[in-house]
Amino acid sequence: MLYQLSHREGQFNARSCKEVKDKYGQTENGLYYLTTATGVVYKTFCDMTTATGVVYKTFCDMTTAGGSWTLVASVHEDNIFGMCTVGDRWTSQQGNNANWPQGEGNRANRKTFGTVKAATDDDFKNPGYYDIEAEDMSVWHLPNNTPVNHWNLAAIMRYHTDRRFLHLYGGNLYQLFHSYPVEYNVGAHLSDNGPSIPIVYDLGDKESTKNVYGRYSGGEIEGGFISFRDINHERAATAICSGVKPKSGNVEHYCIGGCGFFPEANPLQCGDFTGFAWNGYGTHIGCSASKQTLESAVFLFYC
Ligand code: G3P
Ligand code: CA
Ligand code: CA
Repeated sequence: MLYQLSHREGQFNARSCKEVKDKYGQTENGLYYLTTATGVVYKTFCDMTTATGVVYKTFCDMTTAGGSWTLVASVHEDNIFGMCTVGDRWTSQQGNNANWPQGEGNRANRKTFGTVKAATDDDFKNPGYYDIEAEDMSVWHLPNNTPVNHWNLAAIMRYHTDRRFLHLYGGNLYQLFHSYPVEYNVGAHLSDNGPSIPIVYDLGDKESTKNVYGRYSGGEIEGGFISFRDINHERAATAICSGVKPKSGNVEHYCIGGCGFFPEANPLQCGDFTGFAWNGYGTHIGCSASKQTLESAVFLFYC
């Protein structure tokens, strides 16, 4: 059955929030249905049909920096003591294992999971993650269990990029992480790290970013960036260092989502929020992140 388009139902023939705004004039923040690209399917040489796109619901931020930002994913830590157990979808749900070097691999595949309304309560990844051809990213840190209508006010930190960096990396994170695999033993810390992109803060600043992470970590990071595929001293790789650029190799304390094996103190650093409770849960001393950080999800948007 063909997908019916209807303005009244809040459904548009749009692949991104940018299209919802630019083509249909919608400027309200909120939930919208989006549709992935349609494509031509060849059954035989002479028999071709047009495949309809996948329809999904997500949140559009229509205001930040005058742009239109599509929520494509959230990274949520449901149990920091789990050490790569169920719920660690951005790392490994099957333990800390050198024979599982990429872990789940969900940064660079087309699997989807979660729902937009539960994006602060669990991991979320929608088809926009791999389908949208984007230029910039925005990131919100939101306390767990925050309902959608409070997201705007509840954020702990918000920022965006403005240099169209995704053009250089294939247009989205799916492509970027193909170029920079998050894999154990893929390289060495600092020399083989992926890109660090300068950010513009919408809430917070370079100094407050350091307070998100452990006090010891503060000496190892430079605020004002978002970084991708950073490697630690033991050659374990992490996916995203939100708000910071690593200057050393203990990235497991301030970077999230990782490969399938973290050698140091096996298995204590394996999980979506990696080694964020290294010196106790939410203590904010040593290498431990603050309680507020541990209990918040990281939202990823494209524009
Ligand atoms: O990541 C920190 C670790 O490498 C060293 O920590 O607590 O043994 O000094 P610690
Ligand atoms: Ca998770
Ligand atoms: Ca370390």
